[in-house]
Amino acid sequence: MRQTRTQVAIVGAGPAGLMLGHLLHLHGIDSVIVENRTQEYVIERVRAGVLEQGTVDLMREVGVGDRLEREGLRHSGVYIAFNGQRHHIDMEELTGGRAITVYGQNEVVKDLIDARVATGRPLHFDARGVAVHDIDGERPRVMFRLAEEEQELTCDFIAGCDGFHGICRPAIPLAQLQTYEREYPFAWLGILANAPPSSDELVYSLHERGFALFSMRSPRVTRLYLQCATDEDIDNWPDDRIWPELKTRLRTADGWEPIEGSITQKGITPMRSFVAEPMRYGRLFLAGDAAHIVPPTGAKGLNLAMADVWRLGSALAAHYRDGDGRGLDTYSDRGVRRTWRAQRFSWWMTSMLHRSDSTNPFDHRRQIAELDYLISSRAAMTSLAENYVGTQFD
Ligand code: APR
Ligand code: PHB
Repeated sequence: MRQTRTQVAIVGAGPAGLMLGHLLHLHGIDSVIVENRTQEYVIERVRAGVLEQGTVDLMREVGVGDRLEREGLRHSGVYIAFNGQRHHIDMEELTGGRAITVYGQNEVVKDLIDARVATGRPLHFDARGVAVHDIDGERPRVMFRLAEEEQELTCDFIAGCDGFHGICRPAIPLAQLQTYEREYPFAWLGILANAPPSSDELVYSLHERGFALFSMRSPRVTRLYLQCATDEDIDNWPDDRIWPELKTRLRTADGWEPIEGSITQKGITPMRSFVAEPMRYGRLFLAGDAAHIVPPTGAKGLNLAMADVWRLGSALAAHYRDGDGRGLDTYSDRGVRRTWRAQRFSWWMTSMLHRSDSTNPFDHRRQIAELDYLISSRAAMTSLAENYVGTQFD
């Protein structure tokens, strides 16, 4: 068995684990990142694509923002569509200059992997049988196999950045963890298409047939979503069914509709809200999807993960530099507060924009009234804007 030691063992090479590794590197702290999938899988996995202002600022500040600067699409506003009309919300004007940037999560991951490789610090893909031990003791350990060789990694702290289905959260004794969960009675069918965006900004639409979202990845690639059933079979959605449905749900009276193109990827995204509290047990700290899941309507998942690791990176730096443990002691409380704020916003966006199964037409009329209020009140638009662009990391 090969035995190694590091200061912080990071489980998971998604955006959370990779960004944490980079932050620690900048603070001169050793880490080892252990990921159970291959590098290709991690890079090619199609995920979200909206970066809050705070995420963009962080990427720039830590020196991984060059390609984001060149290729990211800065959006100062967003459209909300209902009753055949698109309404513009100028987020930049409403928030004193903050905006979002469209840049695929897999591009973020690619940039962070490049940065990690350039540091020469360990990043292990394809690790088998990853398990964490002694998380409530002084010397926690991560066990795994690399190319059939058993590895024991001893460390001061473990960062559980291994997503919702990872092994870190389940390592915490059940009695020490409170979880809150809500499943939604619908899912999203998402596509990537080789088609230029016909709108310069995202369009969130409530239609009688259900929610639809127009988004993009680049000047040549669009990303679109349709509300569908939770048990939807993707095989029932050939391309010539998807486009008419998207157009029906998105088309507005002024003739705007998405441009069609060849579909290069299709998938179903479940919708779930989940919170685990606290985000720390002993020397194990949870960050990102390992600790919380938001439905994608508010585009908060990736950004919450970035806010977590920014907090954790700063707290670990203060611990190693000054022996100051206050950041670590408050890591969970501060994170839980931000998480619930994002949960509230994501739940609100989701319930305002999706067709529920309810046969009672009251709900649809209430949603229209909510949207009507939103687009006619500066206060309501400001509330959406400041949550959507995101608050300062703290
Ligand atoms: N051992 C090692 N790695 C693991 C294990 C394990 N047992 N289980 C899962 N992982 C890896 C996954 O393969 C994945 O690469 O952990 C990583 C977790 O990454 P993400 O799921 O991307 O989660 P996170 O980094 O928290 O990113 C936040 O924002 O847009 C949302 O949900 C979206 O992934 C996104 C998230
Ligand atoms: C995306 O582009 O993938 C996207 C955009 C906005 C969302 C969710 C996903 O709310």
